[in-house]
Amino acid sequence: MIHARIAGTGSYLPQKILTNFDLEKMVDTSDLWIRERTGIEQRHIAADGETTVDMAERAARAALDMAGCRPQEVDFIAFGTTTPDMVFPNCGVLLQARLGCRGAPAFSLETACSGFMYALSIADKFVRTGEAKRALVIGAETLSRIVDWNDRSTAVLFGDGAGAVLLEPADSPGIISTHLHADGTYRNLLYCGGGMDLSQTRRTIAMSGNEVFRVAVGTLGRAIEETLRANGVERSDLNWLVPHQANLRIIQATARRLDLPMERVITTVQEHGNTSAASVPLALDTAVRAGRIKRGELLLLEAFGGGFTWASGLVRY
Ligand code: ACO
Repeated sequence: MIHARIAGTGSYLPQKILTNFDLEKMVDTSDLWIRERTGIEQRHIAADGETTVDMAERAARAALDMAGCRPQEVDFIAFGTTTPDMVFPNCGVLLQARLGCRGAPAFSLETACSGFMYALSIADKFVRTGEAKRALVIGAETLSRIVDWNDRSTAVLFGDGAGAVLLEPADSPGIISTHLHADGTYRNLLYCGGGMDLSQTRRTIAMSGNEVFRVAVGTLGRAIEETLRANGVERSDLNWLVPHQANLRIIQATARRLDLPMERVITTVQEHGNTSAASVPLALDTAVRAGRIKRGELLLLEAFGGGFTWASGLVRY
């Protein structure tokens, strides 16, 4: 039986940093409010002309380097993003051309903050069926381009960046299970217009923060319990929670549900803000490269975002 394991991780953050103090000069907000309500201290912002695929390429090459895999060997690309460079070709295809892995299937999917988790779940299944051997999974976003910088309720939350993992076949499970969900009836609580429905005039992120917060905490709690139950795993078996980085208070609530001390939770929201689909692979790579997450450890990954879409997964790193 073939399984998929994470052979390498990579990430990239744009150079420019926007601190809470910078934001104080742009909208009616304060460093204290942002830190108390979200935990965020700063976020990275893409340079003029720097695109989602530019950042994804940097993250992908870092993951390939770690795995000792040549870019031409990649035979599958699943790319989560809601801020694509173009309507088409999709970001997966644009990345494929840059990496020089011609012929490999490449696609992007737009499930907002769960984009990476959805992509991971699909790539895992292709590796497990033997249809792919070197599957690149990406989460990358330039959210700064769809943020209304005059709207203090959303401008303080988001950032840009990219994360990647390379999956390879293995004898024992690396990706143990993934669990994907969506409920489109919540579409009006968190959305960004600007698609082909021209009656949607709002082309920047709109969010009913309070309600999203409430649903996110409850839903993520149920999602992690589903993942533990599906695998007969106890909370105490987990080494790390690698959560979606939207808000430190949501992360703390999830950790409490797992009885996990915050020392066992990877948090990057303070430095990265909410990077949507990039958030989980960015947090994962940051922790791997810092030597915190080690080979053989058991990780619980989760994400929640616009749609709503949400996902969780159990991974033996
Ligand atoms: N600075 C100062 N005051 C602010 C700011 C700001 N940046 N933003 C809002 N306020 C004010 C509000 O106007 C309100 O004032 P009022 O009481 O006078 O009306 C007050 O602060 C409280 O506002 P709330 O929205 O109730 O604040 P809350 O504690 O809920 O925090 C936040 C807001 C941080 C947005 C929180 O609700 C949250 O994190 N929500 C979930 C976000 C999330 O998880 N999104 C999902 C993923 S994102 C994706 O998919 C793209």
